[in-house]
Amino acid sequence: MNWSKVVASGAIALFLGAAALSAGGQSAPVPPAPQSVGTIQSSARDWWKNAVIYQIYPRSFQDSNGDGIGDLNGITQRLDYLKELGVEAIWLTPVYPSPQVDFGYDISDYKSIDPQYGTLADFDRLVAEAGKRHIRIVMDMVMNHTSDKHEWFIQSRSSRSNPYRDWYMWRDGKGETATDKGAPPNNWQSEFGHSAWQWDEKTRQYYYHKFYIQQPDLNWYNPKVHEAFRDIISFWLKRGVGGFRFDAITTLFEDPNLADEGVVKDKDGNPIINAFGEPQLDGSKTEFLPGLHAVMQEMRATADTFNSNKFPGTRVLIGETYLPDITGLTKMYGPPDKPEFELPMDTQVGFIDKLDVVQFRAKLTEAETGLGGHVPLLVFDNHDNPRLDARYGDGVHDTDIQRVLSAVLFLSRGAALFYYGDEVGMKTTPPVRKEDVKDPMGVTGWPKEKGRDGERTPMQWDASANAGFTTAGATPWLPVPPSAATINVEAEAGDPNSLLAWYRSVIRLKKTNLAFARGDNTMLDASNTKVLSWLRKAPGAPPGVVSANFTAEPQTVSLSVPGFGGKVKTLLKTPGAADPTSLGQIQLGPFGVYVGEIQ
Ligand code: NOJ
Repeated sequence: MNWSKVVASGAIALFLGAAALSAGGQSAPVPPAPQSVGTIQSSARDWWKNAVIYQIYPRSFQDSNGDGIGDLNGITQRLDYLKELGVEAIWLTPVYPSPQVDFGYDISDYKSIDPQYGTLADFDRLVAEAGKRHIRIVMDMVMNHTSDKHEWFIQSRSSRSNPYRDWYMWRDGKGETATDKGAPPNNWQSEFGHSAWQWDEKTRQYYYHKFYIQQPDLNWYNPKVHEAFRDIISFWLKRGVGGFRFDAITTLFEDPNLADEGVVKDKDGNPIINAFGEPQLDGSKTEFLPGLHAVMQEMRATADTFNSNKFPGTRVLIGETYLPDITGLTKMYGPPDKPEFELPMDTQVGFIDKLDVVQFRAKLTEAETGLGGHVPLLVFDNHDNPRLDARYGDGVHDTDIQRVLSAVLFLSRGAALFYYGDEVGMKTTPPVRKEDVKDPMGVTGWPKEKGRDGERTPMQWDASANAGFTTAGATPWLPVPPSAATINVEAEAGDPNSLLAWYRSVIRLKKTNLAFARGDNTMLDASNTKVLSWLRKAPGAPPGVVSANFTAEPQTVSLSVPGFGGKVKTLLKTPGAADPTSLGQIQLGPFGVYVGEIQ
């Protein structure tokens, strides 16, 4: 499934500090140092407002023990690379113990580390080593569901009178009798295909699962569930994590009356059929139910107790918030007296999935003016969606197109989140045969839905047999794409014209140039349909300007900024481009980008 496409179709969809080890092996909080990159200091409290956040899929980043699966020690080994890239926080997808049905999103113990990834001591060491480099570790927090192997669910399914019974959503079947289980309670569907209700013979009821059968949904109408998660997040905050990314947060609550969901129709009134051959439902009874706001206020209040002298530095709450419009996104920040997320993901810019200047301009303007002054968190891809090449590339200019997209990501106001391997231009590489598919949804949906393996392939570090991800003789859990021969960190690190060099440069500008670090964002040349141009303006600094050509043809733009003459100094430009003589004459090659400082 392309989660972003589902959002675009109007059907509401989902996907879409530091610690050191004390002598006794206990982790002890260590204050994260203020960020100091180049000339601009940001305090520990507001570090996240202009943050550069890197998503790591730990299974695929770096294997340190030759078992073909990435691990925590592997990430620790690569921290210097991330530091040099300019990363300030790492969002780790789940590393807790898990049967790995959904590769970690099915958690069986929230207070430990899966042995595949290492130990709690390895985790503490990662947090401490990252902290030394001013990098925070952000954990994934899955509150919508657990694994069916979690002790809570094992208890819950053991009898109808078990104290944990009401921690999950158990319901009778429709028309159930002593001998017949009846039909599922309603028409709700799993994101991964088919009914969201699973019959459990032992206690003769159905349980609800928005995702895989092995991921039963928690019952957030039960206060004990709230208490359990306040305790879990405190556990990790005490270990010094920099915050959390809340998974599937918009599906926390369901309609208690279990009303059926509506079917989404196309413009001719026919039901839209999803990749699993079923009618697409509108999500109205299982997504965005308002109860989630009170929960997030609770989690934020818990996290805020750690922003004290004892634990300085804001712990940041990031939301997996695929929302169809800016009004919905704004609500995720919470009311001023009851804040919720610092950074709910703005997927509306990054998942336009088309190089359309008009749409980009409109969405970026909304992010600047429609969020009530809140900080947007822009994001273009992740482990659930095909990478940038598959959604924006033309197969000829993919690298140039990525320069354009990364200019939008890093040179717009706000925080920026990017996915491992983007910086070298890793390509989506889906499995070719059904028998090679690892993501279960790719098995259920084959061939229309190939699952998410294609965007989770091993990090491409060098051109060796396993691309430096694991030892040469090992079998990586997903094959290394053939593109690793040329698209890899080692090859690009030595090339000043590489995509990696470009990423380092735009990130450096974001952190060291006052206008790009702190400035307002205003669109320029607003009727141009081929080139997106914008101005960044901060008090006390020369304004910055960016022009990005969204087409494969050369373009010339003429910009004017009230109060300034036409003089402009080049800060950065795509390889081979000329320095403009004035703002009135900026020449851009195919998918060219120009970044200047107005004099
Ligand atoms: C969203 C995660 O990003 C995705 O990978 C996962 O399958 C679902 N939530 C369920 O946890």
